[in-house]
This record gives sequence, structure tokens and C-alpha cells, in this order.
Amino acid sequence: MSTNSESYDAVDSLPNSQLDNIKNLLHLFNGILYATVASIPIFFKWLFHLFLPPPLKNISGQLALITGSSAGIGRAIAMRLAREGCHIAIVNRNLKMGQKVAEEIRAQYKVKAIAFEADVSKCEDVKRLKREVEESLGNVDILVNNAGLLSLENSLLEGNDEDYQRVVDVNLTSYFWTTRAFLPGMMERKKGHIVSVSSLITKISVFGTIAYTTTKYGNIGFMEALNEDLKFFGYSDCIKTTTVLPTLVGTQRKHSQMVEAISKIPVSNVYAIAKDIVYGMQRNRRIFSVPQSAGLVGIFSWFPDDACFLGKLKLMDKSKLDEFMKIRAKK
Ligand SMILES: *[C@@H]1O[C@H](CO)[C@@H](O)[C@H](O)[C@H]1NC(C)=O
Ligand SMILES: *[C@@H]1O[C@H](CO)[C@@H](O)[C@H](O)[C@H]1NC(C)=O
Repeated sequence: MSTNSESYDAVDSLPNSQLDNIKNLLHLFNGILYATVASIPIFFKWLFHLFLPPPLKNISGQLALITGSSAGIGRAIAMRLAREGCHIAIVNRNLKMGQKVAEEIRAQYKVKAIAFEADVSKCEDVKRLKREVEESLGNVDILVNNAGLLSLENSLLEGNDEDYQRVVDVNLTSYFWTTRAFLPGMMERKKGHIVSVSSLITKISVFGTIAYTTTKYGNIGFMEALNEDLKFFGYSDCIKTTTVLPTLVGTQRKHSQMVEAISKIPVSNVYAIAKDIVYGMQRNRRIFSVPQSAGLVGIFSWFPDDACFLGKLKLMDKSKLDEFMKIRAKK
């Protein structure tokens, strides 16, 4: 890969002729036709499974590493995976908090659980993490990318420059480091599952969340590209990817209060969300909304922009806007 702009070798590009354009369209059409035919057996399999679901993937005895798992969705996913029999590596920046969760897991389930301290936005930290985890627990079979800085108050002009850099580092760049650390082992053993927590916000944009929305779209892009690589290089049968788009979850008091003040849609329970995530993962689902019904918000994007905006306002209680803004401004 060349990142040196001096070595840039430009090509002269000629404009497409009308004939080229037609040829391109024919190629495209040919590909689409192929995909349509290839879908037919897949459709029937799907129909069959609708009535006779295949058994859930048995993940008992596997090692799951969950980033950002000392609280919130990460902690709930760790609990749920432990319930399914996984050994658990808790990863976060605060060792004490992580250790508490690991203790809780060991007390409740007959699995191994250890907490590790790491800042997953730092490549070197993740490499050290990998060594420590492998020494004490063994190979990671399931990687759950969940770490993130909580912030719903970053519209474009709020916050400092550093806040934005930090959010992208933690919520997006960390995916490169964790995946680069743990994917090679999965490829070697021909076994693994990578799960990433994006957000329903990618289906319905919400004001005042520019940093959040950007990284959450980034998570989806990352997972789509990863999935494509696994397919292309022949690993898609043994290494699965799952991207989840959870609805708003009440994990931090301030954010729960903000949402509860203004949204007519209630905040979801974190354990219900985690249960659905692990269940979908055990079905090898590639991308899905949690809860399933919440995915319907995607319908808003079918409407003309202005109509969509007005429709979305109906989900809010505008008389509470002042109260919302007051909570939002609190430090
Ligand atoms: C699931 O896998 C574990 C470990 O490989 C095995 O001990 C257990 O019997 C399996 N459970 C089922 C229901 O197949
Ligand atoms: C970063 O990710 C976490 C976990 O998914 C999320 O709760 C948080 O709001 C995200 N922050 C931003 C600014 O995107």
C-alpha cells in the first residue's frame, strides 16, 4: 500500500463513450440476473427454516472477549454469553470495574471469567491484551466489539476537537486493532465469530448526534467489508460476522433521562437487548435490529426528506424540549 503522495502515478482517463456505458449496464444486469437465480434455493431454505428453525449454534466452552464490558450492553452480553457456557474475557479501561463483573460471572455460572485492562483505541495495548488473554484463558473464539465512549451531545459545533478524535479512536479505530489482533488466530483454527455493536441510529437519523452517527455507520462499513473479505478468501463458512443495531438502551442515567424526557418510544432493557443479540449470533445472523420490530424505523427513509422529518417529530414530545435540553447541557 502506498501512502506516499510523491509516488502517485496518475493515469490519463478518457471519457466513456456511449457504447462503453451500454456495455457497463449489460455487465451490471448480468450480475443482477445471476444474483436473482442464486437467491432461489436460498429463499426456499429460508422459508423452510421459518417453520423448522435450525438448532442454535453451540457456543458452550468457547472463549468470548467483549470490549467495553464493565457496564451497559457489553456487560449484559458478557453475562448472556456466560449463561450459554462461554468463558469470558472482560476488557475495559478500569480494571476494578471489570473485575467486579468477572466475579459476578464466576459466581453465577460455571465458567472462567477474567478481567483485563486495556485501552482498545491503542494498537499496542490491544497486542499486549492478546498475549495476556492467550496466556491465561487461551484462544479467543468470539470477539465482541462493543467498546465506546458514551456521548449523545456532539452535534458538529459542540465539544472540543480532541473529543471528536477520541470518539473516532474508541468507537471506530479500535475495530481495526481488535480484529487485526484476533482474526489471524481464528483463520488458523478455522473457527470464530466477530460481533459488532452498531446502532439503530443508522436507520433513522436523529439531531445532535453527528459523532455518534458517523462512527456507527463506520462500524457497519467495517463489518460489511470484513464479511466480504472472509467470503472472498474462503473463510465465510467457518468465521461468521454479526452486526447488531440496537435501539436506545438505558445504560447511563443522563442519557436515559434525556431519552425518557423527549422520546415517545421507551428505552429498552439492556438484558432483553443482550439476549436478542446473543440469540441472533447463535443463529449466525449477519445484521439485524434489536428488538427486531424496531427495524421498522427504517421505513422513514423511504419518504421524501421533509416528510420524513415531520414524521419523526411525531416520535417526540416537543413540549418536553426544554427539559431535554436542560438535561443535555448538564455535565
Ligand atoms: C456443546 O459443546 C460442548 C463443548 O464442545 C459439549 O461439551 C456439549 O455437549 C455440547 N452441547 C450440546 C447440546 O451439543
Ligand atoms: C460509542 O459507542 C458506545 C457503545 O456502543 C456508545 O454508547 C456511544 O454513545 C458511542 N459514542 C459516540 C460519540 O459515538
